[in-house]
Amino acid sequence: MSEIFNPKKEMFNNPQFGSMEEYKALVADFDNDYEGTWAKFADEKIDWFTPYNKILDESNAPFYKWFSGGTMNVAHQCVDRHLDTKKNKAAIIFEGDNGDKEIITYRELAYRVNQTANMFKNKFDIKKGDRVVIYMPMIPEAAVTMLACAKIGAIHSIVFGGFSAEALKDRIIDASAKLVVTADGAFRKGKPYMLKPVVDTALETGCECVKNVCIVERNGEDINWVSGRDYSYNELIKSESSVCEAEPMESEDPLFLLYTSGSTGKPKGVQHSSAGYILWAQMTMEWVFDIKDNDTYWCTADVGWITGHTYIVYGPLAAGATTVMFEGVPTFPDAGRCWKMVEEYQINQFYTAPTAIRLLHKMGENEPAKYDLSSLRILGTVGEPIDPPAWKWYYEAVGNSNCSIVDTYWQTETGGHMISPLPACTPIKPACATFALPGIIAEVIEENGTPTTTGEKGFMCITKPWPSMIRTIWNDDERFVKSYFGDCKKDGKAVYFTGDGAMVSEDDYITITGRTDDVINVSGHRMGTAEVEAAIKKHDNVASVAVVGKPHEIKGEGIFAYIVLKSDEGIADELEEMKTINQLIKAEIGAIALCDAMAFVPDLPKTRSGKIMRRILRSIVKGEEIIQDTSTLEDPSIVGIIESIVKG
Ligand code: PRX
Repeated sequence: MSEIFNPKKEMFNNPQFGSMEEYKALVADFDNDYEGTWAKFADEKIDWFTPYNKILDESNAPFYKWFSGGTMNVAHQCVDRHLDTKKNKAAIIFEGDNGDKEIITYRELAYRVNQTANMFKNKFDIKKGDRVVIYMPMIPEAAVTMLACAKIGAIHSIVFGGFSAEALKDRIIDASAKLVVTADGAFRKGKPYMLKPVVDTALETGCECVKNVCIVERNGEDINWVSGRDYSYNELIKSESSVCEAEPMESEDPLFLLYTSGSTGKPKGVQHSSAGYILWAQMTMEWVFDIKDNDTYWCTADVGWITGHTYIVYGPLAAGATTVMFEGVPTFPDAGRCWKMVEEYQINQFYTAPTAIRLLHKMGENEPAKYDLSSLRILGTVGEPIDPPAWKWYYEAVGNSNCSIVDTYWQTETGGHMISPLPACTPIKPACATFALPGIIAEVIEENGTPTTTGEKGFMCITKPWPSMIRTIWNDDERFVKSYFGDCKKDGKAVYFTGDGAMVSEDDYITITGRTDDVINVSGHRMGTAEVEAAIKKHDNVASVAVVGKPHEIKGEGIFAYIVLKSDEGIADELEEMKTINQLIKAEIGAIALCDAMAFVPDLPKTRSGKIMRRILRSIVKGEEIIQDTSTLEDPSIVGIIESIVKG
């Protein structure tokens, strides 16, 4: 599909960006005065308590600082400052798995955030800078807890509810968290599921830092209460005051940590700032989703991922919008659930991942036609490249060929969108993220900074610091520099490398070609091969293992493991072996990292120095012809042996 789709202007009334000329004019403003243009937005958008005195401090690059000297508060920016004009407007519309509904106005949200903030201070002694781990389902209390932390200056670290006790424990210990906020559990596909027992297991060993666990009672199932440690959120909140002063936060004070996978080692705690992060969350909400006062916006992500942070909670609320939160899954009770909700709430912007689009397409191709989806103006995608068939169905069946599709390219580390169409003006090429947003200097370059030739793959870099960028990896400045500023240089200066490859077309459109490192993108979520391999290696009978991504119809990529067993006596029962290995992965990481398939092989293709040639393994699993030079392998004959096992 190389066709260009021009936005339907009639869908947009006075948009934030009405024409490509306006877009180019702002890009030129940033070119002419980068810092000054950012300052203009910071002055206009942020309700500063005290003004900043430096726009960008590059003296300790790449530890950049934005808006130094200024103080503000993210919860104030997202909630309190709207109370004069929007107190009765819906801030959050919640729909539970079983269809229960709750509308929380900005006034009510302020009330609950303040009570929760007071509870954290008074009952759990949480102070500015303390870390709070949030392990919660998709219920309003998750957003309230995030904002309550922001209000008092505590740093939250959300751990996705699908992670195992072991993964939760690692993240709690790394952040040295004092408090864990969780729920008994929640509902999925009409049935209760549990979270608190996972927290109990995580805390059984080695989490001495945690003093208390605060539990939201959502599904009412029986849970274990540890006396003196565990407290009911629902009980404690009753006695808390609804008045709480916002803690003045320095621009650079950390707002949150969010752990994400890298190509090597353990997950890294990406640290985000207060002012720069919220500024870009709000700006992109306004630009990319063209959010208007009467709009109802729905992002289907989970708050456990960056998309949930920036585009369910912080961005929409900073922009004073109405954001929908959904506890359930898109296919329950049937594949029309999302479209029913779009009709019912008259959703104007719908934001989801290609994996969900593929699933909904497969399970309910004709479902969208059963509902009135005419309120939709913008359809968003995020997390992985969207394939043309999924794009086409989204555009035609869901958007009735009227909506703009914004294919938003960004990462946990970038805080907000980097490359995306602007819905009312960018001529869209399907499955292409199009152009960098104004203020973002995104370049596809060689390692030495030379721009790549048109149509050739290069490194996707952001060559100037931007306000919402990662500040460091928690506890590991060295890894931060090495992971992001170690590969590419421009004009002799280290620049931020995303880890992705990309290409630029003759007409300057940017297409992301995928990760260049050993990170697999499973259903739009990053999974480090090293993490999965470490889990598999815990199996007594595993001698070595290599994990690669395998194309998957719904997930985009699935996980495929090549395993060398110490003894193949038990191999008669491969299925059993696979089961136990997957159980291990589930316990070490969580169900999201389960292997879709495994091959038991006599050895792995290694160079003479012992390096595993993953590219060969990737080619084999895709059924591609091996074009790599195998002569440097210790044993070149292993390639054919592995191929025949995989073809089976
Ligand atoms: O490879 C890119 C892919 O997802 C990675 C970031 O993953 P994560 O930090 O988990 O954040 C996901 C949500 C922002 C990127 O390095 N990615 C994300 N969006 C796109 C994408 N690949 C292609 N097109 C996109 N729109």
